[in-house]
Amino acid sequence: MAEIIPTILVKKFSEVKERIKAVEKYVNWVQLDIMDGIFVNNETWNRPQDLKKIKTKIKLEAHLMVEKPEEVIEDWLKVVDRIIVHFESKISDLAGLIKKIHNSGKQIGLAINPETHFSVVEPFLQDLDLVLFMTVQPGQGGQEFQGWVLDKVRALHNMWPGGNIEIDGGMNPETVKRAIEAGVNLICAGSYIFKSKNINKAINELKSCTTS
Ligand code: DX5
Repeated sequence: MAEIIPTILVKKFSEVKERIKAVEKYVNWVQLDIMDGIFVNNETWNRPQDLKKIKTKIKLEAHLMVEKPEEVIEDWLKVVDRIIVHFESKISDLAGLIKKIHNSGKQIGLAINPETHFSVVEPFLQDLDLVLFMTVQPGQGGQEFQGWVLDKVRALHNMWPGGNIEIDGGMNPETVKRAIEAGVNLICAGSYIFKSKNINKAINELKSCTTS
């Protein structure tokens, strides 16, 4: 069964808390969008130590849209369950970073932007817990879903049967159905959930689109 992962893209920690509380009854994971204003042209809340103040059973993944993830990874490893780094960011030793994250007992995902060819993840597949396909340029919520990215998803799904494939950007009932058909099993959604008048209903609508 595919998972719906609400994504939290905010400037203040009070909003992080609010949004986790708003969804924790309905999902198992949330994604924290962490932007440094350098790797992407936007800056979000990005203080991992704040998370020590939160009591929740929900699992947290940090989507690090930062120029140099290796420089900030230690603090994030203390407070989240999974780290997602971008292939396009400045990582001196990706294999070493994957090992470090696993040695900390956490999971690691590798994200690629729309224009990045999916073959770049091939050398790391046996050690990755997931591959995240961006269907928008990272930095903002509410952008237009770029459907052609699903060709890359299909290609990876065929090459990596059973691998966890996550998608992020422009997710709504229609695009969720298309993503599931292509082989996605982890769906990140921000606007569709947090801009809705009824968060539970919005999540259930997306969940209902994950089963054929
Ligand atoms: C894009 C972010 C996405 C975004 C979700 O930079 O990484 O997670 O918040 O986008 P929508 O609002 O399209 O679901």
